[in-house]
Formats: sequence, C-alpha cells, structure tokens
Amino acid sequence: MAVTTDAAALRTGARQRDGAPAPVLEAQDITVRWGGAVAVDACSLRLARGEAVCVLGRNGAGKTSWLSAIAGVAPSTGRVVFDGTPVPPRSAHWLARRGFVMVPEGRQLYGEMSVEENLLLGAYPWSRRVSVIRRSPELANVYELFPRLAERRRQEVVTLSGGEQQMVAMGRALMGRPKVLVMDEPSLGLSPSMIDLTYRILHGLRGEGLSLLLVEESPRRALELCDRGVVLSSGRVIEEAPVEELRRPGVLERLYLA
Ligand SMILES: Nc1ncnc2c1ncn2[C@@H]1O[C@H](COP(=O)(O)OP(=O)(O)OP(=O)(O)O)[C@@H](O)[C@H]1O
Ligand SMILES: [Mg+2]
Repeated sequence: MAVTTDAAALRTGARQRDGAPAPVLEAQDITVRWGGAVAVDACSLRLARGEAVCVLGRNGAGKTSWLSAIAGVAPSTGRVVFDGTPVPPRSAHWLARRGFVMVPEGRQLYGEMSVEENLLLGAYPWSRRVSVIRRSPELANVYELFPRLAERRRQEVVTLSGGEQQMVAMGRALMGRPKVLVMDEPSLGLSPSMIDLTYRILHGLRGEGLSLLLVEESPRRALELCDRGVVLSSGRVIEEAPVEELRRPGVLERLYLA
C-alpha cells in the first residue's frame, strides 16, 4: 500500500530547543460556544509528527465541536499552530492546502456526483485540473487501496452502500495529500467487516508515518491504533494518557461515568 504522505517532511521534522520533536499540530485553549452554551471549554491538544491520538467521550461531549474548531470550520477562540505556522482564524482552506485533511462526521459526500468526481474534489488543495488529477499517483493509489471504488468509479455515490461511501470519504481525504488525517467517528454505522477494513487502512497509513487524529465513541479499536488518548467530558479534557493506561480494566468505564 503506497499512499502519498509527507514522509520526507516527517523524517526531517524540526526539533524544538528541548530536543523533543516539534509537534505537527498544536491547539491551545480552544473554546467553542454555540449560542450561549459552551461546548468546548479551553481545551488544548498537541499532536507530534507521526503520532496517532484519539479523542474519546460520550455523545455530546464536544468532540466534533473541538475538532471542527481546530480544522477552522467552527467558530472558536484559541490558537492553532500547524506545521510550525500560526493558523489564521476560520482557515479550513489554508489548512487543507498544507495537509490538514478531515473526514467529517457523517462523511458529507456529494451523493449526486460519481465516485470519481468526489475523489477528484479531494485534490482541490493542490490542483483543479481534472486531467492532471485523473493521471495522478494519488488517484491510482486510492483505486489500489479500494478496488471496489475503481469498479464503481462512474456510479453515483448515493447508490453505494454505507461501507463503500466510507471508502469514498477516506479516498477523498487521501487525495488531499494529508500530513495529518483527522477522522470523526470513522466506524459509526459500519458493519464489523468494514470497521476492520477501515482500521487496517489506518494502521497502514500510520506505518507510513502519517499523523492521525481520531474521534471515536466506542474506543476499543481506536486504543489499539493510537499512541495516546484524550477523554472529553462536557467540553473539558478530563484525562490524557498513553493508550496502555486507558486500556487497563475499568479505567475508561470510570472516566465515562464521571
Ligand atoms: N452547530 C451547532 N449548533 C448548536 N449547537 C451545537 C452545534 N454543534 C454541536 N452543538 C452542541 O454542542 C455540544 C457538543 O456537541 P458535539 O457534536 O461537539 O459533541 P460530540 O462529542 O461530537 O457528540 P457525538 O458523539 O454525538 O458526535 C452538544 O450539546 C451539541 O448539541
Ligand atoms: Mg461528534
């Protein structure tokens, strides 16, 4: 599996003065308010190059609001630095051009468009020329990763199964040459075999050095994949620990009950 990631950049990643690798993403004191209600209350997150972090928490904990704010698609206060550069507010396109790519909750595909048209849209951060994108190694890689999509390239997305739509959503994200891939509830509504496939691919991408930020409500597989977990409850970070700690019997149950 050869998905284009910025492996060279990962290898040459700058180091901070303390010798620790510079984070690819640093979000500080992110606060999200919907109307008068605070959905995310001054939460901070740091993602090292090549690291995989999962954000866990019950329904309504604020996971999507937090990631959407970091991704520049939800109004928020706080500071985000991506790949060493401060991110201007509400800068979803700025981030996408630099390799911050999100698979949103519910996938948000264009149902009336074909599989291939949806995939081509994923390349917009680096090209708008359809002829160039059609001949790109990125598209060839996506079809190699998901042969089912190659077979259905001209089919309207609305006619696909949920699992196939998930493949389109992941494929579209990979078309964007991600340095950081963010996935919001990738296993939601999928069959066990499709969840297996999703996580197999995520493990492969990790192996290639891609940094991952994952939101999951049911944490088992996310904790097998990731290095660290962050637990959110009522818009606050209540725990941040290596996955080995979070996997210990009773730990998550206690946190989820908190
Ligand atoms: N666009 C919005 N407008 C108003 N309120 C919102 C909006 N998005 C989220 N909220 C509210 O913010 C709070 C956090 O919601 P959010 O969707 O971020 O949680 P979540 O952890 O992603 O939940 P889930 O597991 O159900 O996806 C909830 O109370 C929700 O009702
Ligand atoms: Mg959510």
